[in-house]
Amino acid sequence: MSVLIKNGHLVNAAEDFIGDIYIEGEKIVAVGENLNRNADQVIDASGKLVFPGGIDPHVHLDMPFMGTYSADDYSTGTLAALHGGTTMVIDFILQTQGKSLYNALEEWQAKSKGRAYGDYGYHMAVTDYNEDTQKEIQLMVEKEGITSFKTFMAYKGALMIDDNQMVGLMTEVKKQGGMVTVHATNGDMIDHLVHKFKKQGKMSPLYHYLSQPEVTEAEASARFGDMAHYTGVPAYIVHMTCEGALNSVREATKRNQTVLVETCIQYLMLDASLYDKGFESAKWVMSPPLREQKDIESLWAGLEQGLVKVVATDHCPFTWEQKKMGENDFSKIPNGHPAIEHRMELLFSEGVNKGRITLPKFVEVTSTNAAKLFGMYPKKGCLAIGSDADLVIFDPNEKHTLSAKTHHMNTDYSGYEGREVTGKTKTVILRGKIAIDNGEVNIDKGYGQYVFRNKVDGKL
Ligand code: URP
Ligand code: ZN
Ligand code: ZN
Repeated sequence: MSVLIKNGHLVNAAEDFIGDIYIEGEKIVAVGENLNRNADQVIDASGKLVFPGGIDPHVHLDMPFMGTYSADDYSTGTLAALHGGTTMVIDFILQTQGKSLYNALEEWQAKSKGRAYGDYGYHMAVTDYNEDTQKEIQLMVEKEGITSFKTFMAYKGALMIDDNQMVGLMTEVKKQGGMVTVHATNGDMIDHLVHKFKKQGKMSPLYHYLSQPEVTEAEASARFGDMAHYTGVPAYIVHMTCEGALNSVREATKRNQTVLVETCIQYLMLDASLYDKGFESAKWVMSPPLREQKDIESLWAGLEQGLVKVVATDHCPFTWEQKKMGENDFSKIPNGHPAIEHRMELLFSEGVNKGRITLPKFVEVTSTNAAKLFGMYPKKGCLAIGSDADLVIFDPNEKHTLSAKTHHMNTDYSGYEGREVTGKTKTVILRGKIAIDNGEVNIDKGYGQYVFRNKVDGKL
């Protein structure tokens, strides 16, 4: 099967120009102006943008969490992602404390095998670092292609590790050529505040927000950065939300420390006023919580300055029925919100369309940087000869409205209900196959493949 895309506005992280792309089988074979090739299918992309398929390196599919499971599995989650122009996700495997990393890997292989529409990789969340876990790190990197190890500085009792374990893990991961990523909030401080509010009978979602003030994130981000610098491991902070945490990274950079920063689309779009809606606010109960306008501005500035490298989603969806588990107690509301489908269109609409970021920056933070940092470049993350033919043909002018009635995520509400966006995913090609065309799905469940990732050094 061959496809020729003609006259598109082609965008990579370093350049954009009007041109053509020729695809044969799963790969891009030629990129240039006025390509003259015979193809099984010719797509006229005049007036459209053509950019690399999005990579969302922060999603939680079918994940056991807070007494339930996230509502999208590998099939619904990766399909919703494709509808929005994301061709690959990296999901989190959670080690069960007391059990091995391999035990968790096998569980996630069973969840994903034959079920994904889009391509996927795994991060390994190490929740119990000990002498046995240590021995598995090398195997994960070299045998399984899992080169990033997630840690939690919060969620004590199930996921959190202490600084002793953190430094041990960092030392081993550095030795094996991997990266340590982190949910950086101070779990003990948060638990103290949760307990205090509950004792006072303050049980609404607002108190989820109030129990995770900015300092809890700023403190943990700085501490993580210092431990990473001490051990020399490539280090990446997931879902950063606030000015205080970003400033800690800015200060670290001045001391020649490198800490890579990811934010998520919701922290660029939404603010904490949404916690003023009674129990409806449970839709936006996530950790860390939404912040203030000054934090939103700070994150946009961080993107522009290159301090924030990646925009992900932290897609961790729950149905309204699941959210109601915390109707009388905010600490029981499953944390997370649905976003896997909307990341690219929201960032384009608010970022590129409103002149906050350039088109190449859009590609950098939605695809190229994730491919580079997580060991997949140039197979993924660029429009280049020899790369996987993962790409999006996008109408930059089409307006549409986000709604639970039309989205493909497995939730009965949307955090963005009624929001109008400018820019729409029209055609999505995944490894040479037209996967989505004008909303129609042309691939089967199981087309998505596991992506074995290479060793990483934290450099872009
Ligand atoms: O609220 C969130 N973020 N839920 C998913 C788990 C995590 O902390 O990333
Ligand atoms: Zn987290
Ligand atoms: Zn997460």
